[in-house]
Order: sequence, then C-alpha cells, then structure tokens
Amino acid sequence: MAGSTARRRREEAKTEPKAPGEEAKPPHVPELLPAFPGLPLRIWMALLVLLVSAAAVILVSTWKPAEHPGKQTDFEVWASARRNLPDALQMKLALTGFGLCGIPRRGNRCARFVLDGVVPAAEVKELAELLQWLVSEAWGAGSGPPSVVDLHAETISYKDQRGVAVMTLKEKSELQQDNFVNLTMFMEFKSLKFTQKQVEAYSRVRQALRKQLSRLFGVPLEGLQHDMTFFSHINGSKTAQTTHDEYWHSHIDTEQYGTFAYTVLLYLNSADHDFDGGEFIFEESRGNGVVVPAAAVEPRAGRVVAFSSDAENPHKVLKVSRGVRMALTAAFTCSQEQAASIQSFPNPSMVEWSGTAAE
Ligand SMILES: *[C@@H]1O[C@H](CO)[C@@H](O)[C@H](O)[C@H]1NC(C)=O
Ligand SMILES: *[C@@H]1O[C@H](CO)[C@@H](O)[C@H](O)[C@H]1NC(C)=O
Repeated sequence: MAGSTARRRREEAKTEPKAPGEEAKPPHVPELLPAFPGLPLRIWMALLVLLVSAAAVILVSTWKPAEHPGKQTDFEVWASARRNLPDALQMKLALTGFGLCGIPRRGNRCARFVLDGVVPAAEVKELAELLQWLVSEAWGAGSGPPSVVDLHAETISYKDQRGVAVMTLKEKSELQQDNFVNLTMFMEFKSLKFTQKQVEAYSRVRQALRKQLSRLFGVPLEGLQHDMTFFSHINGSKTAQTTHDEYWHSHIDTEQYGTFAYTVLLYLNSADHDFDGGEFIFEESRGNGVVVPAAAVEPRAGRVVAFSSDAENPHKVLKVSRGVRMALTAAFTCSQEQAASIQSFPNPSMVEWSGTAAE
C-alpha cells in the first residue's frame, strides 16, 4: 500500500508541469521555417502534408507481413459480421452472445483466418500428388472443370466416355451414380491401392487442421468433429457442362451443405505458378441480397483458410483461367450425429501396407 502510494507520487512528479520559461518556448515547426524565408506558412504546411502522405503510401504499398511457420502470417481478417448480418441473426447473436457449439468465439466474433505453414510442405505435396494420381487414373475425372474426390464417401467425379467405354454395362451401372463413381470399386477395377505414405499424410493433415481450428476459434477439440472432407481439382482447360460445374457462384456453406459449423481449406498448389485465377473471395452482405467482395485470398500451396460456415461468411472462388487448382476442404461440425455419419478412411483392403504391417 505504502509502496504503491510512493510510486504514484513518483509518477505524478514525472508529469509535473514544466517551469513557466520552458513552456513559453515556441513549438518546433515554426522555429524551423524561418531558415527558408519567402514562402507563406500554409504552403509549407501543405508541402509537409504531401510529404507525409507520400511516405505513408510508399509504406503501405511495400508492406509485407513477416512469415512465421505455424503463426498467422498474411493477415487475419475479422469479419465485420455483426454490422452486416441480417436482423434476425443479429438478434440471435446479441441474445446468446455465443458462437457455434455454444462456445464463445474468440472475441465473440465470427472470424476468418488465413495461415501459412500449418502443414509441412512434404505432406502438402504428397496430397497434391495423390489427388492428381487419382484424377489421372480416372481419365481426367469429371467432364467439367471441378472434380471432387471424397475418400470417406468413397466417391470420385467421373464422366469420361473413354473410361466408361472399357467397362461392361453392368460394371458401369454399379459404379456410377450421377457424376460420381464409387472410388473403392473403381480402384478395385483398376487394381489400384493407396500407399501407406499417402494414408498417413492424409490423416496427419486432417488432424493438424482440426487442431489448428480448435486453437483459432477457441473451441475444445472434443466439440469439434470432422464433417465432410474432400479434395477439389479445378481444371481451367475444361468448360462447365452442367450447373454443378459452376463452382464460381457466391454461396454460404451452411446453406450449401447443411451441417458445417466451420470450414477449412488447404491449398495444395499455388496461383501464378500452377494456375491463374482461382482466388478465394470473402464477401460481405449489404442486405437485400447485395453482397460485395470484402477480402481476397491468393491460393498458395500449404496455405490454410479457416472460417465460420454460416451467413456471416458468404464467399466464392473466381474462375480458374489456366492450369489446375487443387485444394482440400475439411469441414467441421458440432453435431455428434453428423460426425458419426462420416465414414472413416481408409478401408484397410485399399492400402498397400509397407514395412511389416500385415494387410
Ligand atoms: C463402394 O463399393 C464398395 C465395394 O464394393 C462397397 O463396400 C461400398 O459400400 C460402396 N460405397 C458406397 C458409398 O456405396
Ligand atoms: C485438364 O484438362 C485437359 C482437357 O481435358 C486435359 O488435357 C489435361 O490433362 C487436364 N489436366 C490435368 C492436370 O488433369
């Protein structure tokens, strides 16, 4: 008590007004100006303002955030969610003050994150090769630009007549439903197996994304269960054949998929290098169905985009104009029931186990 009083006194002493003589000293800028006589003060002030703004523009345009593996690097954009949410949702948020899973979101806001270095480059490469291998084996997979591979639902996009032509009608009808075929049957048909390395990389990456998401949003791991996880392969050389191929429309994940609480994207290759276009655009709702771009993410191998999946985060992917854009989408749910409906991967018979592990 006595110590803190003394400290306060010392602090007060530091801020004591200066002696009257010192106070009367003119401020710095006017003192400097007489060295260049002839120009009115307001011109000097205008020049000063110009210089400062020029410096600010240079600083802003050359600023690049530092990269630290595992930390938020490029930027962390907090959605101005409450401001832009529809009234009904605003009210819900205000009433509960809670985010998804009944847990307060960090800062009690709906957030978006972009991170680099969450997943080791070697594992990102392993997954990119796994995806390209499956798509190539499936004769290019989908007929339109996007092909989707879901290891849990055992599906791969498939619509190439060359591939179908080598099968009997019976094989074809067993294999194919809509634009997908049964991946397990397809791999058996072609005598393909996953390598142990592929399976291990996939599991590690999926776990790493879950852990990272838990950390970012402050949701305990147990409350955050895997929903769908799937690969997307968008080939800019193909043209859309059906409306399902039109991946570039604005959407909200909970409307599109129903159960997602959080969505995580991991890019497996990079814009400019492997493809052009394909930027991820977060949008903001201005009400009356008007959405405007709010932030763009440039895809880069190993980069993670994580966001809450509801109305606060409408988004879209721009068209890929060249090359192939590859990504892994991992969704998370707070519903135990939904989580239980997700099949585990792999089916051991689909893996070529290396080492001593038996089949
Ligand atoms: C795919 O085919 C395999 C092997 O015939 C079968 O066990 C599995 O249930 C099928 N999966 C789906 C989702 O239909
Ligand atoms: C992309 O599609 C084109 C046209 O179908 C095809 O020739 C090319 O091999 C595909 N690229 C990849 C990497 O799958």
